[in-house]
Amino acid sequence: MGADENYQLNAKFYDVLDRIYFRKPATSPRNAVISILGDEPLRVLDMCTGTGVNAFAIAEARRNTKVIGIDISAAMLQKAAAKLEQEELSNVKLIHMNAANLQFPSEEFDVVLISLVLHELNPDLAGQLIGEARRVLKNTGKLIVVEWEEPVSRFKRIPFYLVKKTESAGFEDFLKTEMEQYFFRFGFEMTQTIHCDYSKVMVLRKNDHI
Ligand SMILES: C[S@@+](CC[C@H](N)C(=O)[O-])C[C@H]1O[C@@H](n2cnc3c(N)ncnc32)[C@H](O)[C@@H]1O
Repeated sequence: MGADENYQLNAKFYDVLDRIYFRKPATSPRNAVISILGDEPLRVLDMCTGTGVNAFAIAEARRNTKVIGIDISAAMLQKAAAKLEQEELSNVKLIHMNAANLQFPSEEFDVVLISLVLHELNPDLAGQLIGEARRVLKNTGKLIVVEWEEPVSRFKRIPFYLVKKTESAGFEDFLKTEMEQYFFRFGFEMTQTIHCDYSKVMVLRKNDHI
């Protein structure tokens, strides 16, 4: 089953995720992403934007920044577009596009965001996405990756168990991945990791490794 069919149903309920796992502003990965951006005007690509949660939060917090959200799932984008109609945000654009084959020139964006995506892709596809992110990112730009993280608190382990149950077979292995080495293979160097509720936000820059 492709991402598009997978998300036909998920699109309806997807935003419940934020209300359960990321509801506390101080420890939400959505807010951590914004804190990394600084105040200068930027061009941000939200790769696999889904229902646009990050894209809209960034656009609202940084009105001088242009955010482009792309996704392969028409259902997720429809949900995002419906939300966008309610918001007064002129600095967001949503485009139906495959992140493995981005229709943008090289070195186009100051920031590329890949949020809650890599864990659910097969390793080859994940590699293609990271390769495309590297291509469209300016040499001085930042790649921001949000991923699930096993919580230390035992109170959080029960809600996290539900995440584990709904994710695909390779999820537990992905959680154990040594992320610095993982991204190094694709020409990125980790500069910062922010631990958030059930998740971590990683900031990476291009290196000359590949
Ligand atoms: C778990 S959702 C994450 C949504 C959002 N980034 C967030 O942080 O909530 C994963 C998204 O990746 C999208 N996706 C998966 N493969 C893709 C691809 N090859 N190109 C573009 N989007 C893709 C899915 O359609 C889905 O909307």
